[in-house]
Amino acid sequence: MSKINEPNIFARATCPTEADIHVHRFPATSRLLHWIVAALVLATWPLGLFIKFTTNEVKLDFYMIHESLGFLVLWIMLLRIGNKLLVKAPPAEGAAIERFAASSVHGLLYLLLIVMPVSGFLATNAHGFPLHWFGLVPVWSPIGKTPEIAWTLSAVHTWSAWILLALFALHVGAVLFHHVIKRDNTLYRIL
Ligand code: HEM
Ligand code: HEM
Repeated sequence: MSKINEPNIFARATCPTEADIHVHRFPATSRLLHWIVAALVLATWPLGLFIKFTTNEVKLDFYMIHESLGFLVLWIMLLRIGNKLLVKAPPAEGAAIERFAASSVHGLLYLLLIVMPVSGFLATNAHGFPLHWFGLVPVWSPIGKTPEIAWTLSAVHTWSAWILLALFALHVGAVLFHHVIKRDNTLYRIL
């Protein structure tokens, strides 16, 4: 005999509805700019590191692609700062210490994403290799060949690269912690 009046235990195990999940997402422009910059940085960073392992025949091409992509980061970051000032970010979530850690890492990422392209651009000009963007457009520079400061600028660029990598590791570590361990909505805020 079937027990049709028995409560269905699977009814409670269904997926939550959209109304149950309320995600305060970043505005569309912020999400778009976040992923464009992330894709550019994830391509530019390893390209920069590989330059010194490449043969002489392709080295100049690697420099050109690395520098052209990196230079694009500068302009998109300026747009992103403008966007941040104009649009309203969703309210920060979590304990005060988490909010402080997140905003410190985000602030430092913004800073490094300006310092990196500016130091790289000035370094290449100081070494006497002005940028031709993707081999097409010669880019004006405030400095010309200046050997006295070239290696200092290169050192700033290289140190910033490793600091950026450490910040990126913290950033992705935090996202994974929220998504896998705490299982909250943090990742969906930027998707
Ligand atoms: C977000 C943008 C950028 C990132 C993440 C980045 C990252 C890197 C990395 C990881 C290296 C290797 C460092 C090492 O060998 O330990 C490097 C080297 C280099 N990058 Fe970039 N870079 C960026 C933008 C630029 C730009 C815009 C230029 C020039 C227009 C540039 C010029 C150079 C040069 C010339 C080197 C060789 C090392 C030196 O002499 O300074 N980079 N970059
Ligand atoms: C590749 C995987 C990545 C994932 C899964 C990811 C995920 C996220 C998430 C979930 C947020 C929102 C945090 C919140 O709610 O407060 C966020 C924000 C942010 N991410 Fe990423 N991110 C990634 C890559 C990057 C990269 C490569 C960078 C830069 C180098 C970056 C820089 C930032 C910044 C600066 C913010 C703050 C947003 C703002 O105020 O504009 N992210 N990311």
